[in-house]
Amino acid sequence: MLSRLGFETAALDAKLLTGHGLGLDALALATRELEPVSVDGAASVAALVQRRMSGESVARIIGEKEFYGLAFRLNAATLEPRPDTELLVDLAIKALPQGGRLLDLGTGTGCVPIAVLAHCPDASGLATDISSEALGMAETNARSNGVSERLALAQGDWFEALTAIPSTAGDERFDVITSNPPYIASATIETLAAEVRHFDPRLALDGGPDGLAPYRVIAAAAAHFLRPVGQVLVEIGYDQGESVSALFSRHGFAEVTVHKDLNGLDRVISAHHLRSV
Ligand SMILES: C[S@@+](CC[C@H](N)C(=O)[O-])C[C@H]1O[C@@H](n2cnc3c(N)ncnc32)[C@H](O)[C@@H]1O
Repeated sequence: MLSRLGFETAALDAKLLTGHGLGLDALALATRELEPVSVDGAASVAALVQRRMSGESVARIIGEKEFYGLAFRLNAATLEPRPDTELLVDLAIKALPQGGRLLDLGTGTGCVPIAVLAHCPDASGLATDISSEALGMAETNARSNGVSERLALAQGDWFEALTAIPSTAGDERFDVITSNPPYIASATIETLAAEVRHFDPRLALDGGPDGLAPYRVIAAAAAHFLRPVGQVLVEIGYDQGESVSALFSRHGFAEVTVHKDLNGLDRVISAHHLRSV
């Protein structure tokens, strides 16, 4: 049914949904493929396939997605971690000094700081989001990936989340600030694929009238939260390299660099603040 409807990954989707519906991992699915399926089992697989047919992604249906070699749980308030975002993690790992402190703004599942901390065992960090449901998921993922003791969480609107932490009152500074903020122009959201439009949380997509609203806030305030020689790393849309670079340059950042992803598209901007270089 999925291939008839034109799903490009129909065979893989069917395998994953069948395994999930029957409670079998990949090995059990392969070794027990000649066993009959119970009526209840068949009904539960059919229900999952129905959801896929309506455009929901396999990761959302299963409630889990792999990112940077780690497993992340998802809920309705979180975006699925995307392979594109692995570049942000690569650059953050390179930028963090020994024992460094990382701040991740708009963390969703927590995929960025959790992947960074899992690969930098002496680093620690703080992850924020405006959504408490997203932060709950980040907490679960930090625990299951063994970094919860090194990752604090705070709820709030971009940097305002930091002022809510009584121990620092927003005075703490970081070696690296990462963010993959919402960066789609509000009017464009209606034109996106049904999979995104109907199932991804709007709060994770909507970057305001021109898609740049979160970058304006981050570029204006980030210097205050950076340690000397610290840097900001933000994921961007493929056509936002110039406009987001200009924002950071205007706010006193230097060495503003656009990094391309594996598809050759502009994907991440790194920037140092003049005061801290
Ligand atoms: C594009 S998603 C990225 C999530 C995650 N960092 C990732 O890469 O998968 C953007 C995140 O920013 C959060 N967000 C939206 N507006 C925010 C705000 N004003 N302050 C803090 N976080 C916000 C959303 O809830 C969402 O989790």
